[in-house]
Amino acid sequence: MEAELQRLREGVLAGLAGAADLRALDEVRVAALGKKGSVTELVKSLGALPPEQRREAGQSFNALKRELEEALTVRKAELEKSAVAARLVAERIDVTLPPRERPEGRIHPVSQVTDEIVAIFADMGFAVAEGPDIEDDWHNFEALNIPPEHPARQMHDTFYLEALQDGAPLLLRTHTSPVQIRTMLAGKPPFRIIAPGRTYRRDSDMTHTPMFHQVEGLVIDRETHMGHLKGCLIDFVGAFFERDQVPVRFRPSYFPFTEPSAEMDVGCRRSRDELLIGEGSDWLEILGCGMVHPRVLQAVGLDPDEWQGFAFGMGIDRVAMLKYGIPDLRTFFESDLRWIRHYGFLPLDVPSTYAGLSR
Ligand code: DAH
Repeated sequence: MEAELQRLREGVLAGLAGAADLRALDEVRVAALGKKGSVTELVKSLGALPPEQRREAGQSFNALKRELEEALTVRKAELEKSAVAARLVAERIDVTLPPRERPEGRIHPVSQVTDEIVAIFADMGFAVAEGPDIEDDWHNFEALNIPPEHPARQMHDTFYLEALQDGAPLLLRTHTSPVQIRTMLAGKPPFRIIAPGRTYRRDSDMTHTPMFHQVEGLVIDRETHMGHLKGCLIDFVGAFFERDQVPVRFRPSYFPFTEPSAEMDVGCRRSRDELLIGEGSDWLEILGCGMVHPRVLQAVGLDPDEWQGFAFGMGIDRVAMLKYGIPDLRTFFESDLRWIRHYGFLPLDVPSTYAGLSR
């Protein structure tokens, strides 16, 4: 009996010492002290002993059990310590490694500039309105005081679709002005909206692409006049080009949907291959504007004796080129990764008028 106990003891102790990790240690524990473990079985066999031997054997069994449990605790602590040490080595961070690159994606200058324009006009209390890229003749032309035989239609180089609506072909909108019409039909005056979006014309060279972007502006109220138009656009230009004093001038012009009509130029300086906005003695046209024509108001059911206001339309791509010095419009739409890495903006630098538009 003694000899058997001794063998068992040595066997388990050797097992504990040899366990290389916590898992192996647990296997040794189960094999010895588990429900069907060797030590447990031995304790169970106590019952078979004659009563006079039982007491003494019980004591030495318990002593063995306690000794083994203690040895197990000690070995477990040892293994835990070395497991932590091993993990620290394995999970070591080399703080001298270069940081991970910032996200690869860039915001396209058109998106950036659109966000900038929206931020500025939002500050002045304008809401953003939208309309469809596929328009009908009435919204794109008729309601804007451009009847079928009007020469302005030729200037628009329209893409017509095969689909007809009320006998007239649908088309890709040639400007964002139809959003004026949709806005006034859908709501009640006063209105104060801008409408950025895609526009389409059959045209392609250094400064024209078949698809381009415009932003429309519309303010309708009871007493809105040309002074409001000028103040609004002068404030916009200063905020957009991020300069206190941008020289501007308003030149008389013609648009069927405004009367009077004007074009707005900003002062600039052209040197060999540079264009500087805000100084110098040259002028550059950036938008068309005017007081909304009474016929346009009538087309949407507003009484021109009660309501009046101004509108403007600006090329987004064009002002993006001016602000960020991008020479060729066509490159905007070529999806060249090197181009977008150079001219694009970081996704997290969202433009706002308080934190800075372009930074
Ligand atoms: N729709 C005109 C164009 O595409 C731009 C324009 C001029 C819009 C004057 C306006 C405006 O709202 O008042 O050429």
